[in-house]
Amino acid sequence: MALRRKDILTLEDMSVQEMQAILDNASSFKEILGRDIKKVPTLRGKSILTLFYEASTRTRTSFELAGKYLSADTVNIATTTSAIVKGETLKDTAWTVEAMGIDCIVMRHPIAGAPHFLARICQASIVNAGDGMHEHPTQGLLDMFSIAERKGRLKGLKVAIIGDIFHSRVARSNIWGLGKMGADVWLAGPSTLIPPEVERMGETFGSRGGRLRVTCRVEEAIEAADVVMVLRLQLERQKKGLFPSIREYARLFGVDRRRLALAKDDFILMHPGPMNRGVEIASNAADADYSVIIDQVTNGVAVRMAVLYLLLGGGGGEEAVADKGGEVR
Ligand code: CP
Repeated sequence: MALRRKDILTLEDMSVQEMQAILDNASSFKEILGRDIKKVPTLRGKSILTLFYEASTRTRTSFELAGKYLSADTVNIATTTSAIVKGETLKDTAWTVEAMGIDCIVMRHPIAGAPHFLARICQASIVNAGDGMHEHPTQGLLDMFSIAERKGRLKGLKVAIIGDIFHSRVARSNIWGLGKMGADVWLAGPSTLIPPEVERMGETFGSRGGRLRVTCRVEEAIEAADVVMVLRLQLERQKKGLFPSIREYARLFGVDRRRLALAKDDFILMHPGPMNRGVEIASNAADADYSVIIDQVTNGVAVRMAVLYLLLGGGGGEEAVADKGGEVR
């Protein structure tokens, strides 16, 4: 199935079929990542810009590598050394790069809705790589891919999302995505870090059989969980004293081996990164056998290859396999 859309801005507005098409294509692209020569000609002649107004290691690098592995030309604007520091507006920056022939802008911005604005004024495809506290759709997709890869399904799984839900665009994309796929999502953290809007989000779960539950007790969320997803405590966004201290947070809400013993025997541990080791996640848990945190990073490249392919080049299905240079299951 092809994506009949110009942009990827949220998982809230993405259908189950579209998400499934991305996950299916990502499986094929992951096979390419295992080859000695990770290069297919699929997006030759296409140009991709990464435009990040906030710091990133994983997302920006994986989008750049995904574009390169698909033979697209990838360029990056570093906001600190571009005309943005001279006061150039987002609109002028976008129109300037479009005039140079850019086909896709992958954008991270501290203001929620900034990618939606670009999507309205640009011909180029816009991919939201994180907008404020709103969404991070490709992170949600790579997390779903990582879960399905280990568990073989999403529907009916108990997924505990633990930590700073309030500031987390990763949590919002996962709630929308996992909910539409029929997972049972449990949110746990300090009540001051659970946003009131989750009730509205939970209303969408019923149609696929999933549920959304909220608790302040981490143990309740982790008990019999198939997946434990720990979120970063976003220290840079904490301005209102929403919890007493980092030490207190680690004691009450930190995920460690003792708490993880409550999960199912074959559970997996996830974290989108970057991690605050010793705060929201214990170091020996992050590095344990049940951790798939490094797999998430690898899968990020495969999922972003699928996203770029389906937006810029492909029709999906058999056409996708042929385009990728054959030998793709
Ligand atoms: N998970 C994530 O978005 O990481 P980066 O901030 O490094 O891109």
